[in-house]
Amino acid sequence: MTFKIRENLWLNFSHTKSFNRFFLKGYPMETISIAQIKEAAEYIRRQTPLRPTIALTLGSGMGPLAAEITDATVIPYTDIPHFARSTVPGHAGQLVIGKLQGHTVLAMQGRYHFYEGHSMQSVTLPVRVMKLLGIEIFIVTNAAGGLNQSFSVGDLMLITDHINFTGMAGHHPLRGPNLDEFGPRFPDMSTPYDLELQAMARKAARRAGFTLREGVYVSLAGPSFETPAEIRFLQIIGGDAVGMSTAPEVVVARHSGIRVLGISGISNVAITDTTSDQKTTHEEVLEASQMMASKLIKLVKGVLTELSG
Ligand code: HPA
Repeated sequence: MTFKIRENLWLNFSHTKSFNRFFLKGYPMETISIAQIKEAAEYIRRQTPLRPTIALTLGSGMGPLAAEITDATVIPYTDIPHFARSTVPGHAGQLVIGKLQGHTVLAMQGRYHFYEGHSMQSVTLPVRVMKLLGIEIFIVTNAAGGLNQSFSVGDLMLITDHINFTGMAGHHPLRGPNLDEFGPRFPDMSTPYDLELQAMARKAARRAGFTLREGVYVSLAGPSFETPAEIRFLQIIGGDAVGMSTAPEVVVARHSGIRVLGISGISNVAITDTTSDQKTTHEEVLEASQMMASKLIKLVKGVLTELSG
């Protein structure tokens, strides 16, 4: 690699390693080590004798589901080694470990987002920790904008697949040294969302008496909401809902073989026209998500009942 500093002055690096050593000194790519993941998992294990096998991540406004958990041990993220701080309103920032519908569960009440300034490795550290804690099933929820024109505010959407836009653009949570203990360098992503869990969710929604939408979730970096042109683009490429989370967590979960169920709450419908009077706000997202929380509780409880049967 050769760089021109100024006329007649060139800097030559014979290989990438020396370039990285020279330019990135003190600014290494953020990576998470096995030791850090173990330290976080051991801290959590010391707080409770319960050993959860099902984890839930509760997105914007979906926190009320955590109140359904009994015999709960609550651990603020700030107490857990290597966990970052959650800075977004609507995200409490704590782990709740306890009992739900006869299962021992771990709920993340609030999550980290890339737009808060965390690296993708940091955003997905909790999923690595879940694996070490013995989690086998990961139920991931979020608030999302509806791209599919047949969706309405208040709908729940079963995520059948995703487009990890941020990952495709280079901010991939598995970038960097592969953690071989968790999974392979090039993990398969042909069935990111577990088919059996999807069938259970359809059944649970039917039993609870509400329509469960289905579709593809597009994961963007945020924090700005999309322009109408971006929305039309995401519709063309096959997106049904758009948000600022989830896909990176799912990719990391699948890397280590955790089965995933994904649910989006449609908190607003995407605006496709620049002359529209409509605006998208986080307050609107939170308000709608809180309305959807009761449906989400029924859906998750229904799936947990199915898992017992
Ligand atoms: N766009 C991106 N993220 C979101 C939206 C949206 O419209 N609604 C909730 N999260």
